[in-house]
Amino acid sequence: MMALKRKDLLGLRGMTKAELEEILSTAQDMKSILLSNVKKASYLQGKSVVMLFYENSTRTRFSFEFAAKYLGAHTASVAVSSSSVAKGESLVDTGKTLQSMGIDVIVLRHPMSGAPHLLAKHVSASVINAGDGINEHPTQALLDMFTIKQKKGTLDGLKVAIIGDILHSRVARSNIWGLTAMGAEVRVAGPSTLMPPDIEKMGARVFYKVEEAIKDADVVMGLRIQRERQQKGLLPSIREYTRLFGITQERIRLAKADALIMHPGPVNRGVEISSDLVDGEQSVINEQVTNGVAIRMALLYLLTRRDYNAVH
Ligand code: CP
Repeated sequence: MMALKRKDLLGLRGMTKAELEEILSTAQDMKSILLSNVKKASYLQGKSVVMLFYENSTRTRFSFEFAAKYLGAHTASVAVSSSSVAKGESLVDTGKTLQSMGIDVIVLRHPMSGAPHLLAKHVSASVINAGDGINEHPTQALLDMFTIKQKKGTLDGLKVAIIGDILHSRVARSNIWGLTAMGAEVRVAGPSTLMPPDIEKMGARVFYKVEEAIKDADVVMGLRIQRERQQKGLLPSIREYTRLFGITQERIRLAKADALIMHPGPVNRGVEISSDLVDGEQSVINEQVTNGVAIRMALLYLLTRRDYNAVH
């Protein structure tokens, strides 16, 4: 397995099928460690991993932290509000300061699109994008792809419907890049006010009726409706959104009988998806969280190997 020759993981845009396959197959090995009683390996012994999150997170931050610990790394989380960031220290200076302490990997979540790309240019530590603005959330898409592949055996030829606020969704963008590279058909559906104009150029098929997007789908993925959008006039009302685009039992019957129901979390139950579907037999939402640890173990392992040829 020699495909992943990168210093950083900044996004899935432009990533090759061979690179994606290497990450997914490494995650398979990491999942065996994760599910063992010991949950311990020494691949990252002597390495240090820092979580630098400028936005809230439960799943991404803690799964990176556990992934690093399970592989034997030293870890720390920077509480941005009580760090020198609050005194005005820039992202680049913060990254350089952490690097001077011997940090090997910086896991960065930031509200500005492109922030991880900027940091990666200024530090020799590996930078992993844990979500940047509305650009990408590559590790979420990788865990989604890993979950689908585990359940369906392949991604090639599958129809994946992503429903909701596509405009502001870094999860949707990373999934479109990754899934289409692996041969899946990606359909997106949502209100026209929440649909980016250039989304078809990324390779997705656009639907404005949720029923048409879900019809015969192998996977139906809901996205969180961000209530703050309503105040900006992008949604008529939450109730109206749910009526027109909510993922319900009735609508899910249009998908294949064995369709997977997915959501990156956190979920607004009864808004973008009905509560019974979240907890139902077709839901793999909890498995997504477990697989998130395996994917992050795989990325930490692959990026800290010594034989890479650094490229951005
Ligand atoms: N899916 C996701 O990124 O969740 P968190 O915001 O809890 O990390």
